[in-house]
Amino acid sequence: MAALNALDRHLALVGFMGAGKSTLVTPVAGRLGRPGRDLDVDATRVIQAHGLDGFRRIETSIVREALDRREPDVYAFGGGGVTSAEVRDLLAAGAFTVLLEIDVDTAWERVRGSDRPLAQDEATFRRLYEERQPLYREVADAIADDEDGVVLAAAGIHHELGSLDRLGELVPGDGAVALVADSTVMGIHGPRAQEALGDRLASTHELPPGEQAKQIAVVERLWTELSLDRGGTVVALGGGALTDTAGFAAATYLRGVPWVAVPTTLVGQVDAAIGGKTAVDIPQGKNLAGAFHWPAHVVIDESLLATLPERERRQGRAEHVKTELLAGRELDVRATAAYKAALCLRDPHDRGVRQWLNLGHTFAHALEAAAGFELTHGDAVALGLLAALRLSGRDTTHVEEELAPEPVRVDRDRAWEALLRDKKRSGDDINLVLLGDDGPLVETRPADEVRAALDRLVA
Ligand SMILES: NC(=O)c1ccc[n+]([C@@H]2O[C@H](COP(=O)([O-])OP(=O)(O)OC[C@H]3O[C@@H](n4cnc5c(N)ncnc54)[C@H](O)[C@@H]3O)[C@@H](O)[C@H]2O)c1
Repeated sequence: MAALNALDRHLALVGFMGAGKSTLVTPVAGRLGRPGRDLDVDATRVIQAHGLDGFRRIETSIVREALDRREPDVYAFGGGGVTSAEVRDLLAAGAFTVLLEIDVDTAWERVRGSDRPLAQDEATFRRLYEERQPLYREVADAIADDEDGVVLAAAGIHHELGSLDRLGELVPGDGAVALVADSTVMGIHGPRAQEALGDRLASTHELPPGEQAKQIAVVERLWTELSLDRGGTVVALGGGALTDTAGFAAATYLRGVPWVAVPTTLVGQVDAAIGGKTAVDIPQGKNLAGAFHWPAHVVIDESLLATLPERERRQGRAEHVKTELLAGRELDVRATAAYKAALCLRDPHDRGVRQWLNLGHTFAHALEAAAGFELTHGDAVALGLLAALRLSGRDTTHVEEELAPEPVRVDRDRAWEALLRDKKRSGDDINLVLLGDDGPLVETRPADEVRAALDRLVA
């Protein structure tokens, strides 16, 4: 089966001249925290010196040496590399390969007049384009046409309007599928998902909507209902609560079967379905029993959000604005998903940069605990972002305008105790994710400053 993502695997960019492989290799590698290298060999010079056979030999040995490296890298391949069967085999064995797609007219516009030997004559250029397309498609594990597209593909994320109807082909392999959805979502979007899965659909399972799904008893019920073998796949259709629960069931059933997340809330599409964290709640707290289990695919179909109630959409907007602050620019749903995907690929087990995603969350968790969970997570995050921005010496206008957070009526001491408990400390300073001049960072701040910032969020 084709590779599913670039986790622990080289990421190879292939495509025709002018597709942007060399331009994208450095920014993509930067976002994934990996070395990036352009493997394009100067064909003219090498062919003159060593002939065509010599050129192919040199090219293959460069590719072999690169893909043999243990640390996963990002590579841009020469446009003609895929014409070698050996290079194609090396890619299949050692890389997650993304085809950077470009149409022939745009490609010609970009490279005409350059000194590239194969871009001197338009007819030859177009013939070569047609000849190469089947080879690119043969090696490609995924297709993209820009930087975010490459990052999303590398994480196994497919973003496309209407993709729910293509679910049958977007679930990897050809094994049986168990469809899990919450009862509300099953009623609205279930029939389309069932139809798209066609003959592969082996069973459907309805879970309670919202946080009620995130109980071990619900997972236990799923364990007993599922009748998949290890070639089967769990498809989780719903918001973050549903994907957290079904993902955890998939992580544990038969010691782990693949799963596909189809997020139906804004929270799910920009956050919860991305990055492989799955969990249920226990009496001691939220998300305390879980597993890292990266979904085989995440299928983001923004048209599913049309039926989402406004109060649920608001939850997602808080995470969306949080990501815009981290990225330092405005983002749409796709770019927000790509931002999180890159951090998670960089830090799949949450030991480093993934912490950045907690911007504002220390305050949010404290307020939620003090409010006895009367406060929604989105509203708590909106307030938490204000505190994080103030401590970073940043302007709060974007958050005020987008999320209009209102101070909340809670007991200040109770909120402070919850914050210290969350941080598992009572000392003089506290680690927080803040925004620095060069982007997010984890910084220590004196307890009294943090307490003052928390107090400002309380009415
Ligand atoms: N795993 C992670 O990395 C991660 C990250 C963030 C949040 N989460 C988890 O996500 C959960 C919150 O997820 P959520 O905000 O998506 O809420 P949710 O899953 O609780 O869903 C909220 C409500 O919206 C309904 N709904 C969902 N999609 C709908 C649609 N398209 N149309 C109409 N109704 C729809 C659901 O039935 C439910 O009643 C929390 O449990 C949180 O811990 C996990």
